[in-house]
Formats: sequence, structure tokens, C-alpha cells
Amino acid sequence: MLEIVMKISLRSGRRPVVGLPGKMKVVGVVSGSLTEAGQELDRAYSGILSKALKLGKFRGEFGASLTVMAEDVFLVILGLGQKRGVTADRVREAGALVAQKALELRVREVAVENFFADRLGKEAASYALAEGLYLGSYRFNRYKSDAKPVKVRYWIARGRGRAVEEAERMARATAFARDLANEPPNVLTPEALADAAVSLADASGFEARVLGPEEIEELGMGAFLAVARGSDHPPRFIHLIYRPEEKVRRRVAIVGKGLCFDTGGYSLKPTQNMRHMKADMSGAAAVLGTFQALAEFRPSVEVHGVIAAAENKISGRAYVVDEVVRTMSGKTVEVVNTDAEGRLTLADALYYASREAPEAIVSIATLTGSSVVALGRKIAALFATEERLAEELRESGALEGETLWPMPLEPRYEKLLKSDVADLKNVGTREGGAIQAALFLKQFVRDPFAHLDIAGPAFQRESWELGPAGASGFGVRTLTRWIRSL
Ligand code: BES
Ligand code: ZN
Ligand code: ZN
Repeated sequence: MLEIVMKISLRSGRRPVVGLPGKMKVVGVVSGSLTEAGQELDRAYSGILSKALKLGKFRGEFGASLTVMAEDVFLVILGLGQKRGVTADRVREAGALVAQKALELRVREVAVENFFADRLGKEAASYALAEGLYLGSYRFNRYKSDAKPVKVRYWIARGRGRAVEEAERMARATAFARDLANEPPNVLTPEALADAAVSLADASGFEARVLGPEEIEELGMGAFLAVARGSDHPPRFIHLIYRPEEKVRRRVAIVGKGLCFDTGGYSLKPTQNMRHMKADMSGAAAVLGTFQALAEFRPSVEVHGVIAAAENKISGRAYVVDEVVRTMSGKTVEVVNTDAEGRLTLADALYYASREAPEAIVSIATLTGSSVVALGRKIAALFATEERLAEELRESGALEGETLWPMPLEPRYEKLLKSDVADLKNVGTREGGAIQAALFLKQFVRDPFAHLDIAGPAFQRESWELGPAGASGFGVRTLTRWIRSL
């Protein structure tokens, strides 16, 4: 698994686009006219770009492009929209569009103008552009017999080297999470997920603890085990620890939902909804992606990564509705729907994480269809017991092009989770489903606690702004940036 089928390298060049290597050179059109770099390139190629603009009646809408051939290079003009109100998000998306073009034209080396460096500053502009170039180049092609490895080198003209390097690390960690969530479920079983975590830990000097069914049972994780029981693939409980070499400024835990496949169990999902449930471990993938980034950035924060990895399947042993399970916390839960399995696994994982007494615990999970209905595929739901933690996460996400939207942990809904036979039941009513799921988790965890429901943005059914159809790696950059900011 995880052989290299993608080799993207990012460089910043001191020279302008004209002077940099590459069989493809990209400049922008902003508010209808060629940028300065564009005019420079135009002059170097005797006005071919301005002629093409006129001929094509090119207005420079964001994302529109014109490609002209000159001598032995492709000159690409990319529409960047209007100058006013430009954001780093735009630049990141522009980077991904350039990547898309590079792959279409099958070029190996590309020089790109540092879009909007005048507006955003060289640093922020090259950071966002580099992320976009890398993420837009991402392909998951290891199971395509005829696929050629993606191999491109991008030069960012007049870019900032350090920003480009940081962006590359962030993007590589995101791609790692994408790879994990894109792996088919026959390959990425709970054991394989644990192996991936251990390899990462070994390569990076992290502590790793992996527990099998007996040890999980000894800890009393009855809810997690109930979910895992139906599958022939045994569960794995994964605990990674990153300890900074120097002094520890803060201690936090991140907990990812790790359902390697979710059939729904006996509350079986209809065929359409079962599609892509291999990515029901995207929260776990985000945690591992974040750890990969921690290995590179080495912030002064101790981080615990916790994943309860299992499959939700059907067999003679599988759990059924009406079961009452005992969680590690001692609280009992009546199972009223076996498809609300994520919160059962997380109940035990969050309780376990709480015992480490971190200063903040963040869970990240493809938890509810309800959050997808509420916010769609671009936005994650954010729940937090404290305003400050919510703001920190939201800000970190915003800087990385990952939108988190606050939702309430409404106390009046807590009674919906009361059971007639146990302390809690795993599902209340349909209305406000994402909120009830978050409230359920809250019963098992210490404050301050935040929860990201990424059921919408974790997996894209169509190609999107920052990559092809498939896993998005959502959360890696938010969590990494947040941890680095502490
Ligand atoms: N893994 C699903 C949530 C999900 C839905 C993720 C769509 C990605 C896309 C989760 O385990 C689930 O099935 N949740 C149920 C809960 C319900 C039974 C209360 C849901 O959302 O329908
Ligand atoms: Zn489910
Ligand atoms: Zn699930």
C-alpha cells in the first residue's frame, strides 16, 4: 500500500514567469486585463497573449482560461475575476485550476505567476497558491492499470520559499489523508489502518499503542466492541502520542471516527446511501494526516491521537437494535439504530481520551447525514462547549480554505436521548440529528470539547475546487494549523 504514484514538487523562483523553466507558463487576467507578469510574458512573445485575448473576447471570469502555443511552450492565461475582495481561497482554487491544466496538457514542469501577491502579500499568496497546485494535482490512481504516475514540478515566480515549503507539507499531509480514505474497504481494514498508524509513528518517532479485541474488552469499551462484533475483521484501538522535544506548551487530544466500512448494520443502509461508506474513517484519516504534519512541523504541543477502528457489518454475531451496551465510562446505552454506530465508537474513544486529561479534546467524524442536509458538501458542522475553542478552530479552518459553521449544543434537546431502559439511547428524533449526535458525544467527554461533523465535506462525489472526486482530506489543515497556533 501507499507506493508513490504522485510526485509533485513545488519551488519558488526569484525570477518572473518569463525567466523560469517549464513547458507551460501561466499568467493571470485580473479585472479584464493582463497582470504585470502577463504583460511581461506578452512582450517576450511578441504580443501573442494580448492578441489571443482580443481574438477570444476573453473577459477573465474566474476559472476561464485560454491556452496558446508559442515556440515550444504552452502559454496559459487564467481568468482570476475581479481585483476587489480577493481572498487566499481564490488563489488556492486558482492553483488547483493550474494543476488541472498541467495534467491535461501532460507537462512535467510549469511556471506560475504568484497570483495576487500585490494584494495578499508575497507570503500569503505563495502559500495559498502552492497548496492549490499540490492539492489540485492529487490523483488516486494506484488501482488503474494504465495510469502513469503524476509527476509535475511547479515554479512559483517571485514566491516565498518558506511559505511554499510549509504549504507543501500541509498539502502532502492532506494527500496522505485522502489516500487513506480513498483506499477500498477490502484493503483498508481496521488492522491495515492500525498498521498505517504504526508505520507513521515508527517513521516519525511517535509513541503508538494499538489494542486488539481482548485489550479493548479489558478496558470495558462495550459500545465500541458492540459495533465491531459483526465483522470478521477484528477492531483496533489506536493511540498515537506526539511529544515535543522541548517544553510542552499545551496538551490536546484529537479523536477520529474510524469506521473502515459502514453498512449500517441490521439497520441496513439502502444501496445508494451505502456507496462511499469506505470513507467513514475520514475522521481517522484526518487525525493521521495531522500527525504526519506534526512530524514535519514539530510544534511545542503534546498531541494525543485516538482512533477506534472497526467495521459496521452484519453477521450472526452482529449487534442488533434493543441491545443495551455498557460504555467504558460506565454509562449504559440502548441501541435503537445500528447505523448510529459512530457515536458508540466515539463514546468510548472520547472517554479514553479524557483520561489523558488534555486541555482540549476535538473529535472529527463523518457522523451524520443530518449535517450534510444542513450544510452541504463544502461545510463542516462545528460544535463546542466553549466559544474560544470554537473561534480558534473556525479561524484555523478559514485560513486553510476549510469552512466550519457553528451549531448549538442545545441543552433542551438532551432529553431526546433519554432511554426507558438505559442511561441513554443512541438516537433521538430525526429533526436536529447532527445536534443530538454531538450532544450524545458530549456525555462521554471532558470540557473543553469541540466536535467537527465532516460527513458533508469529507467525500466529494464530483471533482471540486481542490481536487478530483473522492476523499478531500478535510480537517487535516484545520487541525494542524490550530495545533500550531496554540
Ligand atoms: N456514517 C454515517 C453518516 C454519514 C452519512 C456519513 C452520509 C457520510 C455521508 C453514520 O454512521 C450514520 O449512518 N448516521 C445516521 C444516524 C441516524 C441513524 C440517526 C444518519 O445520519 O442517517
Ligand atoms: Zn452509520
Ligand atoms: Zn458511520
